[in-house]
Amino acid sequence: MAAYTDIAFRLLCRRAGASMCFTEFANANAIVRGGENTLALMRTCKEEAPTGIQIFGADASSMADACRKINSLVETGELFASSIDLNFGCPAGSVIRAGAGSALLRNPKKMAEIASACSKASELPITAKIRAGWRNNEAVELAKMLQEAGVAGIAVHWRTATEGRKRQEGWSALQGVVEAVEIPVIGNGGANTPSRAVQFLQQSGCAAVMIASGALGNPSIFSQANALLDGKEAAPLSWNEKRKSFMEYVRLAKENGISSPKRMRAHAIEWVSGFNGVKKARTKLNAAKNVDDAVKILEEFEPDSHSLSSDKKM
Ligand SMILES: Cc1cc2nc3c(=O)[nH]c(=O)nc-3n(C[C@H](O)[C@H](O)[C@H](O)COP(=O)(O)O)c2cc1C
Repeated sequence: MAAYTDIAFRLLCRRAGASMCFTEFANANAIVRGGENTLALMRTCKEEAPTGIQIFGADASSMADACRKINSLVETGELFASSIDLNFGCPAGSVIRAGAGSALLRNPKKMAEIASACSKASELPITAKIRAGWRNNEAVELAKMLQEAGVAGIAVHWRTATEGRKRQEGWSALQGVVEAVEIPVIGNGGANTPSRAVQFLQQSGCAAVMIASGALGNPSIFSQANALLDGKEAAPLSWNEKRKSFMEYVRLAKENGISSPKRMRAHAIEWVSGFNGVKKARTKLNAAKNVDDAVKILEEFEPDSHSLSSDKKM
């Protein structure tokens, strides 16, 4: 997730039991140019392996060049990556206007050309992430085209690019995709509590379920979902336990040179979300000028009661 899934956050998720994580998406042109900020986005470490580096772009040659660059950085040991993931799902206006992300769902031939060029250019496995379609559900056809183009796996967010996030359940529709292709299908969309993640997995038949926003401020969603899968009780974390996990994020962030107050504030807001009394903390966090201010606010935060105000952040 752009602006959130930095190396520190991914390490917390992996330690909590996520099977693999992906980097924030990186612009293929910027990767080829070798910009410092883009390289920092793609920085992974051995401990978090397997990690997929996600890239986005609008044309086959720059996407394939970006794949070559990542492969060579991995070869020289400057990067650790297990796979490269092609973003064909982002619905953000700026990305669509550039002809990238979910814009490519409107032009499946071009999408397949990109996937094919990247698969040929890369020793590392290429995977792809799509929405079910632009406006209509065409996930089966899109998945078959991507398989034909050589991708090793595919993540499918079952909503279309244009429909927003209102519909809460629709993952059963992914069964058709699972049956139509031989490659592993990772299901995504709405698996934002441990029980919903388990239901998603069981009702869709997907090889794995991808948890995105449900992990924000809440990496323990992975250990809780895994516990449920093993038939165990998944107890929500107390505020003290959550505070400890935020402090561990801060420690890992510092260790890895992540010092953006904006990013720290965004993470801190997610960590307190769902607890009673969060409104005041959020206002203070929005005014925090540096990382230490944000940390202090979380250190001092005490929810009105230790119960959660919703089951969003278990
Ligand atoms: C803040 C934020 C940033 C995101 N950034 C990316 C991204 O860089 N690449 C990507 O493939 N999806 C990105 N997504 C989409 C998620 O991966 C996922 O498809 C979507 O949130 C639905 O899953 P969920 O219901 O588990 O959140 C982002 C989502 C959020 C909320």
